[in-house]
Amino acid sequence: MNKQIEAALNDQISKEASSSQYYLSMASWAEVNGLSGTAFFMYSHADEERFHMLKLVKFVNERGGRAVIPKIAQPPSDFDSVHRMFELLLAHELTVTAAINEVVDICLKEKDYTTHNFMQWYVSEQMEEEALARSILDKLRLIGNEKGGMYLFDREILEIANSTENAPKIKG
Ligand code: FEO
Repeated sequence: MNKQIEAALNDQISKEASSSQYYLSMASWAEVNGLSGTAFFMYSHADEERFHMLKLVKFVNERGGRAVIPKIAQPPSDFDSVHRMFELLLAHELTVTAAINEVVDICLKEKDYTTHNFMQWYVSEQMEEEALARSILDKLRLIGNEKGGMYLFDREILEIANSTENAPKIKG
């Protein structure tokens, strides 16, 4: 495997692993704040990110490279509100999208069309994740700080997490 591509994919492995830890921290915060639906959504999202990482690890190793399992920095553990937490989630996803676009760009420069093709799955996944985060933020804006609204939101997000398209795709 081209060394530049290998390094870029290993960077992405690290980013997906960090995303998983970040959302796991959000899940834990939501759980201790009585938001069981939101916590379930975040636990599932953390699993999805771990799957994104595993998919990269296997691809790198199968293509003759060497996937390196990264050290991960401790994520923040306190989030002021559910609204703030989803704002942070969207901001984080935007940085992941930029990183994926960077990998795609390197693939084109290095004429590695196999990895380019593989990365298209991540490009689509990012579009879905950004759209989902934006739609959740829209709901939260409508609800405002109303307590009853937050109760309904927590139930609704549980349904979103349980829907097939957003369930963790661990099996690949
Ligand atoms: Fe794997 Fe949400 O980026």
